[in-house]
Amino acid sequence: MRVDIRPAIYSDCPKLTRIKLLARGECADESSSRFEDEKRYLTAFLDERQNVFVQLIDRVPIAFCTVRESNLKPFIGYAYIKDLYVLPERQGKGFGKKLLMHTLRTMRGMGYMNAVLETAENNEQARKFYKKFGFEEHKTNGSEGYIIYTIDF
Ligand SMILES: CC(C)(COP(=O)(O)OP(=O)(O)OC[C@H]1O[C@@H](n2cnc3c(N)ncnc32)[C@H](O)[C@@H]1OP(=O)(O)O)[C@@H](O)C(=O)NCCC(=O)NCCS
Repeated sequence: MRVDIRPAIYSDCPKLTRIKLLARGECADESSSRFEDEKRYLTAFLDERQNVFVQLIDRVPIAFCTVRESNLKPFIGYAYIKDLYVLPERQGKGFGKKLLMHTLRTMRGMGYMNAVLETAENNEQARKFYKKFGFEEHKTNGSEGYIIYTIDF
């Protein structure tokens, strides 16, 4: 099994959209407006030359992570992890951890010294994952229903 991580390209967008919707437990019907909206969002991320990393097993995308600069007060200037999604059948096998480590290492190489992210308060899986990874939980400051996590490099 060969595992790679590389920057995403435009032609990855439909596959990454599918990963995101399935990881969220949603329907990934390519003809739905929901699918189109998410695909457009990812394409815009690439248009803005933001960082999108895709993880592949034997050249097939199974996970991705998007990151940009934070404008979230008081964490302005941090690397902001926007999306981190692993295909359901590949979850719990260390891929998310490996992809996040790669992303943070790359951001550190670009001069960032810390990262921030928000996750839904009821997303127990993600909250356990981030805590185990070493992120610090901030119960205040977040938008309603969301928890903020930060990590220093
Ligand atoms: C959250 C997510 C990105 C984690 O990726 P993953 O590949 O499943 O997680 P990993 O297998 O790399 O787990 C890394 C560590 O976190 C722990 N962990 C992961 N999920 C966990 C859970 N549900 N409960 C407890 N610990 C968990 C693992 O035990 C592992 O610990 P270790 O380092 O001691 O071995 C992935 O499960 C996912 O895509 N979830 C759905 C979408 C989502 O919620 N994304 C985040 C939105 S902010």
